[in-house]
Amino acid sequence: MNLEEYIELVNKKLDEYMHEDTFPQDIFKSMKYTVTLKGKRLRPVMCLEACRIFGGNIEDALPTACAIEMLHAQTLIHDDLPCMDNDDFRRGKPTNHKVFGEATAVLAGDALISFAPQVILEHSKNLSAQTLIKIMKEYVKFAGAYGVIGGQVADIEAEKNWKNNKFGLPPEDLLEFIHSHKTADLFKLPLRCGAIIAGASEEDLDKITDFAQKLGVAFQISDDILDEISTFEEMGKTLGKDKTADKLTYVSLYGLDTSKEKLACILEECCAIIDALKVKSEVLKDIIRGIKKRVGI
Ligand code: IPE
Ligand code: IPE
Ligand code: MG
Ligand code: MG
Ligand code: MG
Repeated sequence: MNLEEYIELVNKKLDEYMHEDTFPQDIFKSMKYTVTLKGKRLRPVMCLEACRIFGGNIEDALPTACAIEMLHAQTLIHDDLPCMDNDDFRRGKPTNHKVFGEATAVLAGDALISFAPQVILEHSKNLSAQTLIKIMKEYVKFAGAYGVIGGQVADIEAEKNWKNNKFGLPPEDLLEFIHSHKTADLFKLPLRCGAIIAGASEEDLDKITDFAQKLGVAFQISDDILDEISTFEEMGKTLGKDKTADKLTYVSLYGLDTSKEKLACILEECCAIIDALKVKSEVLKDIIRGIKKRVGI
């Protein structure tokens, strides 16, 4: 399958999983709203492709792939709240709290964190109990304070404070922590789960984790760069916010040109990991090409 075919499959399944007519409707509508808005679907696609690369059946990975997109939508809903990044637009439309109000948006995010594993457990008919436990272990680790939440907390705390050494570690290390957790952990989750579903070896799991870490950091660097140079039409969200909020980003720490150079280097390393795998992946290469194209490198 190519990238577009994967995206179509994921969109169809997400539509199937997300209900909006269950009582109390507001919460289900709010959950469905952000999940089904047009996103790039990188994380579910990576999950399905990792499953294919390591010899699995992609049908078996579909519930997990969609569940991870739901978790991603949760991080977006909460990231946009007034108490976090305070954003009014996401995926080209008003943010969840602008449409449903803050209380429902907070609860929709909470609900998605538990609905995602519910989908995995209810729909993964072909997976053994042992595989499901392994997937749940990945999920709880990367979704929680050891994962994306830890990254988000560090991101918020570093805001306006990253120059004053409040954290006792150099800003370079703090930035690495933030990007590794707020973004790369949500790349590790789908890639590792896809590989686990396929029954990949520990050695292959290590390789795909290394790739996920690098691609995740690269993706966040590109997002930091695009916050400076892209447009609302292209990104579907208000840009230029990192600078006004005094966020610790690649651009604020290293400047635009060095950020682009560092990004190009990391993407080269990503390509090398993919090229060294036994099974080739044009889909993962397409994701890398997409990042380069958007940033113009
Ligand atoms: C946005 O992720 C959050 C970041 C990690 C920068 P995406 O850029 O993948 O968002 P969607 O899913 O396409 O909306
Ligand atoms: C968000 O990073 C990462 C998560 C949502 C976990 P950003 O705050 O940079 O993402 P955008 O720019 O709002 O999409
Ligand atoms: Mg943020
Ligand atoms: Mg944000
Ligand atoms: Mg951003």
